[in-house]
Amino acid sequence: MSKKIVIAIDGPAGSGKSTAAKNLAERLGLVYVDTGAMYRAITYAAIRKGIADDEKAVIELAKSIKIRLKFVDGLTRVFVNGEEVTEKIRTSEVNEKVSGISKIPEVRAELVKIQRKLGEEGNLIAEGRDTTTVVFPDADLKIFLTASIDERARRRYKEFVEKGVQISLEEVKANLEKRDKMDSEREVSPLKKADDAIVFDNTHTSIADEIEILLKKINAAAK
Ligand code: DC
Repeated sequence: MSKKIVIAIDGPAGSGKSTAAKNLAERLGLVYVDTGAMYRAITYAAIRKGIADDEKAVIELAKSIKIRLKFVDGLTRVFVNGEEVTEKIRTSEVNEKVSGISKIPEVRAELVKIQRKLGEEGNLIAEGRDTTTVVFPDADLKIFLTASIDERARRRYKEFVEKGVQISLEEVKANLEKRDKMDSEREVSPLKKADDAIVFDNTHTSIADEIEILLKKINAAAK
């Protein structure tokens, strides 16, 4: 690909944003920016400090924390102040708190700054709530991924089972519904489709087929 492109992928929890972004980044040799991992990293650090419910303290933390993402062999490794937290940011405790923390405007402002800085280099695929609407409104291609709530819950449940986490499908679905609601209704950067984003419902599409379809769209956008 000759042009230095920026691709942004948005959509609700469990819609397969990370899977799509990782695959496309690998296929096209792009830098993959998992913005959700950044919000998770702050949330994890706040929980560990015992300040997750103290907005002022969380804002201070966001201003001082050093978050680094390293994309190696299809895996995004996440570091907070030099400590690897890749696994620790994927717990149900972090899932519970992350929507609350990600709606704090000052926290978002700090993270958006970092994300845009990464975008200046181009050849990047950013994934997460608001990447198409706020972070990269001028992206070359904006993709809004979605799937039915039952399918999204099933995917998340499978991930938990694979990790040996004890949780029921009903709990996972309830948590997703709660997060969808919070993420869509919040005042700052709510989950919403950008007007010029292409919508892809992958409820009944295999990952392989989805990637082939998206690659065609990216190639067309990069011309
Ligand atoms: O994609 P994820 O499940 O890792 O995201 C975790 C949470 O972070 C999710 O509840 C929404 C929030 N988030 C956000 O507010 N803005 C982003 N750009 C990415 C994620």
